[in-house]
Amino acid sequence: MSKKILVTGGTGYIGSHTVVELQNAGFEVVIADNLSNSKIEVLDALEQITGIRPLFEKVDLSDAQATSEMFDRHGDIKAIIHFAAFKAVGESVQKPLEYYRNNLNSLMNILDNMRSRKIKNMVFSSSCTVYGQPDQLPVTEETPRKPAESPYGNTKAIAEDILRDFCKVHPEISCIALRYFNPIGAHPSALIGELPIGVPGNLVPFITQTAAGIRKELSIFGDDYQTPDGTAIRDYINVVDLSEAHVVAINRLLEQKAVQNYEFFNVGTGNGLSVMELVQTFIRVTGVKLPYKIAPRRQGDIEKIWADTTISNKELGWEAKKTVDETLLSAWNWEKRVRGL
Ligand code: UFG
Repeated sequence: MSKKILVTGGTGYIGSHTVVELQNAGFEVVIADNLSNSKIEVLDALEQITGIRPLFEKVDLSDAQATSEMFDRHGDIKAIIHFAAFKAVGESVQKPLEYYRNNLNSLMNILDNMRSRKIKNMVFSSSCTVYGQPDQLPVTEETPRKPAESPYGNTKAIAEDILRDFCKVHPEISCIALRYFNPIGAHPSALIGELPIGVPGNLVPFITQTAAGIRKELSIFGDDYQTPDGTAIRDYINVVDLSEAHVVAINRLLEQKAVQNYEFFNVGTGNGLSVMELVQTFIRVTGVKLPYKIAPRRQGDIEKIWADTTISNKELGWEAKKTVDETLLSAWNWEKRVRGL
């Protein structure tokens, strides 16, 4: 039986790491990506790591016709992992229409094709952003969602609602939304990793670029939060651990083990780490100098969030395994390889 999985956004950061884990688990992968935020050379790296070159379709999934034609060429897809989306929080505030159009039309185009072509399974990239600043920590899947802080975050909340409503009237289709906490790090081979275009918005790429001498110094946004050291707290999860959660979710769907036909799970470590703790850990494990200063809070940031992973650990039989030390080292090894250091 064919085990062909369509991975949208498969040349991107989390997508590419997930393709590795899928191919290692014996799945055949077809990537659909418009390369708007990734490079075609990722395919070479994927082949180098796994020995298999995934099939590739360059397609804009917000284009209904192009999407349908892409599905025409792959009649045997068993499941879809839908990563493809714009993801820069700040940019989404400036370009709301572009974010809603890209992130939501692509999802609806894919669901349309699932319905008409009888593709029964989807795993969707959601985010802990749907919780906002929760009233109680850690957040469980039962923690109420809060209104999104940005158009980007709102596309994730709306996408979850679309999946819930769609699954309600399509009992033959099953979807799992994975709510990622903060994915960081790179594949241990250092052949794939996060490659932000321009000035990185996220903490770890900014740290590694500063350590590499590309940025003058890191700004730590705020040291007056209600946290032990005053800096904001997040749940940083290794991208390979996160990728493995996708393989587990796909198997749950294909083996028809899902309890409901729309499910959502927290994908984090269960540990909160402050910005300062992360910075100090990076300095300790790499031995590299990292100039930093305290700067004002960043608008829209929440103070603290970390996951309760009891349900995902129990239901998915999955847990994050890698330490923050090895994760930060992997991010640094990737940065060094990209910069030829
Ligand atoms: N930070 C700094 N300096 C920087 C960059 C970040 O101090 O140069 C701080 C932020 O203020 C925050 C922490 O590091 O406290 C983490 O920031 P990131 O930008 O790496 O991650 P966020 O938690 O802001 O955002 C992530 C994802 C989003 C998602 C969001 C949900 O990138 O996709 O979590 O909370 F929406």
